[in-house]
Amino acid sequence: MTRRNENKRVKNSPISRRQLLGGAATATAFFIVPRHVLGGQGNQPPSEKLNIAGIGLGAMGADNLRACDAENIVALCDVDWDMAAITFQRYPKAKRYKDYRRMLDREDNIDAVIVATPDHTHAVITAAAMKRGKGVYTQMPLAHDVWEVRQLARIARESGVATQMGNERYSAPTVRRVGFASGYGTAASDPFARSTAGRTGPSGPRG
Ligand SMILES: NC(=O)c1ccc[n+]([C@@H]2O[C@H](COP(=O)([O-])OP(=O)(O)OC[C@H]3O[C@@H](n4cnc5c(N)ncnc54)[C@H](O)[C@@H]3O)[C@@H](O)[C@H]2O)c1
Repeated sequence: MTRRNENKRVKNSPISRRQLLGGAATATAFFIVPRHVLGGQGNQPPSEKLNIAGIGLGAMGADNLRACDAENIVALCDVDWDMAAITFQRYPKAKRYKDYRRMLDREDNIDAVIVATPDHTHAVITAAAMKRGKGVYTQMPLAHDVWEVRQLARIARESGVATQMGNERYSAPTVRRVGFASGYGTAASDPFARSTAGRTGPSGPRG
């Protein structure tokens, strides 16, 4: 089956967005599948909205939450409430926390979390969320070392939650649409592989 046909199956499936996120979802279900694929055109019924929590509310956390404005932002966590002030104002109904463990313990209704804390904390927070059955969108870098990545992969398999790493431009809907249209295929035919390999920076080509 081509990638394009797989998308049609999701579109016509009776499975709900929330089931898709929490159940046997693929690793790409969280943000990068366009809204019309998951939930049909038009407004989302409130019961189909995802309950999202943000952990780390600095630059990226605030930005990632704004991208989810159409969902329910139910809980927010940052160790530094001065950093969080703007995001707290934006979502006045969301519960506020300084400790993500307390938030995950208390807020049973969370479907998914956005982890946008400093790099060295990503793995432990992401693991805690997945173990509680929450979908995760974790900013890059996903982890500190290969061992942590392997632990996260194992927990993701065991919990069956939807996962995605935040890597900005490669998650953009337009870029993903090109990927779906091309059916991915081999690295040589993969637009992501080619766009990554073609990237240049101060130290020259990367990827
Ligand atoms: N996807 C990308 O291309 C991209 C771009 C920039 C940054 N990032 C990554 O995003 C992450 C966040 O970057 P940023 O620029 O938003 O940083 P930031 O410093 O603006 O925000 C980090 C926030 O996390 C909070 N925090 C720290 N420890 C915490 C904890 N244990 N629990 C809850 N909150 C905690 C801080 O108080 C701060 O508000 C970093 O890992 C960074 O590497 C990714």
